[in-house]
Amino acid sequence: MTSIPFWDSDGVTLHCGDATDVLSAMPDSSVHCVVTSPPYYGLRDYGTGRWVGGARDCEHSKVRHAAAETDDPALQHRRCERCGALREDRQHGLEATPQDYINRLRDVFAQLHRVLVPDGTVWLNLGDSYSAQPPGRTRDPMANSTLHGAAAATTLRDSVRAAAVDRTRALPPKNLLGMPWRTAFALQADGWILRNAIIWHKPNAMPESVQDRLSNRYETIFLLTRQRKYYFDLDAIREPLARPEAIGQHIVIGGNNKGRHAGIDATARRRGHTATGRYGANRTAMPRWRGDSLAPTGRQHDARHPSGKNPGDVWSMSTRPLREAHFAAFPIDIPLRCIAAGCPPQGVVLDPFSGAATTGMAARRLGREYVGIDLNPEYHRIGIRRLRLDSGSNGDARAAA
Ligand SMILES: C[S@@+](CC[C@H](N)C(=O)[O-])C[C@H]1O[C@@H](n2cnc3c(N)ncnc32)[C@H](O)[C@@H]1O
Repeated sequence: MTSIPFWDSDGVTLHCGDATDVLSAMPDSSVHCVVTSPPYYGLRDYGTGRWVGGARDCEHSKVRHAAAETDDPALQHRRCERCGALREDRQHGLEATPQDYINRLRDVFAQLHRVLVPDGTVWLNLGDSYSAQPPGRTRDPMANSTLHGAAAATTLRDSVRAAAVDRTRALPPKNLLGMPWRTAFALQADGWILRNAIIWHKPNAMPESVQDRLSNRYETIFLLTRQRKYYFDLDAIREPLARPEAIGQHIVIGGNNKGRHAGIDATARRRGHTATGRYGANRTAMPRWRGDSLAPTGRQHDARHPSGKNPGDVWSMSTRPLREAHFAAFPIDIPLRCIAAGCPPQGVVLDPFSGAATTGMAARRLGREYVGIDLNPEYHRIGIRRLRLDSGSNGDARAAA
């Protein structure tokens, strides 16, 4: 069944619904690149749950997992022990166990495998979480969703508790769960090729009040592909060389050889040595103090590309505050780099957990089409504003409502 898009114009299509459901209605091989950041495990509530039945005035403060009551693992059923109301929620991230979380992501990825062109790329941003008891007492997570940003930290903790997520089911309290890697291994087992595990270092990471461990400053971005050969434009993301003038001059920059030209220090250079011997005449003129086997080869120079260097797998990118109410957005620098490298010009970029459409903004800036899916229509409205589609554009009427 094809869903009517929430928004469809200007090269942007937004669908409102569960990622797996919407993806299953999309055609095979219709997307070139996926850049996405699903909800992390047990850390957020995206305000999509609703109580069915029970007493109206009940605060539903005592909730228990009710998985046995449904065959559908996507329906995160909880029952209020006081009034019997059933909580329905299809959002990712509030599964009862880490394995349930991973299994649901595997379902999403099974669909992504189908809608992605064979030589497409998937960039998956995941953060980790600790095994911890659900903290504190709470009221209805609908009232405490991330959309009510002000008291964010408390309300998030409360929401997680209300959803009856117990992160201590897998490991004793205080354990780092290793969710990104557990997920990556599961996806490998499903046939995905894991090409990179990029460390996204956040220089401006939020301080943590912890006293008995180090504060966390990074998340992981996995590059996954369907097959061994895939679209990848390294030139599009090369970084400027620190000293472009060094190309062809046998100058080694950085590392132990800093300040040396072709591994030859200043004194040796004054005496006329070069990488190929004194004035380039012969190799025997090289300084012998490290032995011939350790003599400079000049090989390091071959790695330096005239268009710039490979940005490597540690990306230092500051988070950027979002004035809108969606505060789990990643900085646009991430999708910009992923799309530039992993999506051909005029290709289609997809984010099945679109949120405030940061991936969409990057796709548009780089001239690619965008398809975004999110369970919560409020986030699409934020996305439409950020994409500047709301003025004069002729999208679907529901978006403006
Ligand atoms: C971490 S946020 C994504 C933020 C996004 N990368 C950005 O920069 O704006 C995760 C998003 O997944 C959405 N989500 C949660 N469960 C979902 C589901 N079952 N299907 C689709 N979207 C879902 C949430 O509403 C939330 O907006």
